[in-house]
Amino acid sequence: MTNGFETVIFEKRGSIAYVTLHRPQALNAFSVQMRDDLYEVLSAIQVDDEVHVVVFKGAGDKAFCAGADLNEFLTAPSVVEARRIRAVRDLWRLFLSIPQPLIAALHGYVLGSGVEIALFCDLRIASDDVVFGLPEVGLGIIPGAGGTQTLPRVVGLSRSLDMLLTNRWIKSDEAYHFGLVTRVVPRAELLPAVEDIAHKIASFDPVTVRKVKEAVLRGFDLSMSDGLDLERRLASELAAMRSLKIRNSANEE
Ligand code: COA
Repeated sequence: MTNGFETVIFEKRGSIAYVTLHRPQALNAFSVQMRDDLYEVLSAIQVDDEVHVVVFKGAGDKAFCAGADLNEFLTAPSVVEARRIRAVRDLWRLFLSIPQPLIAALHGYVLGSGVEIALFCDLRIASDDVVFGLPEVGLGIIPGAGGTQTLPRVVGLSRSLDMLLTNRWIKSDEAYHFGLVTRVVPRAELLPAVEDIAHKIASFDPVTVRKVKEAVLRGFDLSMSDGLDLERRLASELAAMRSLKIRNSANEE
């Protein structure tokens, strides 16, 4: 199934959903229209139990996403106004609320909001030609899609500050050493590698997968003690759902 939006291609193949950022002529720069399209797509995914895992990728050869659309920024009355328009729909909190695992398939330029979208994904897989960067500081703005919060959680304080304060661009191998991506593959193998991972996740019980994601992500911001309570609660919920399912199927027989 394919649903065409202006800036995003949304496809469902079996239990895997594919979301392609699709403005290749502008290196998939993140525009207000893309925000609206992604909002629609993610809202649909969030309530779609047929979708067990989601893959994000970028159209064209050159980039996953080259950051915020600079033409929109430059034509808005002010940067503050450009930001205000973007904040009308809180896409970033919606990203955080998606229960299914999200995988970013990254190639070429991954800049600004491109990095931030990738950081909202649970797994980041890169081809060997990626360049990551957060150029916001040089544009007189701070990252507005969670980057100041998500990057330190993924790569630690020192590395985040190095990237955020100096606009240092890093390549795939360094991103791997930073822990920003967990696998690096040749460009031609990027999509097959990501599909393998997506199929692997989709082969597991989807409710169990969601609970694991919830335990890790919600637990990350808790104390160890509260995190262990959360884990126990989620495990009990899972066990209760499983015994209910067994009882229901026994009643049906
Ligand atoms: N917003 C809008 N358009 C963008 C864009 C962006 N963030 N990044 C690239 N584009 C457009 C270019 O304007 C160009 O359009 P054109 O063909 O109509 O002139 C097209 O995408 C190709 O980009 P180009 O700059 O020609 O490619 P390149 O290989 O020479 O350089 C980059 C690639 C990524 C280094 C360069 O495009 C760049 O620095 N982009 C801006 C990155 C940025 O600061 N993003 C904002 C982060 S907050």
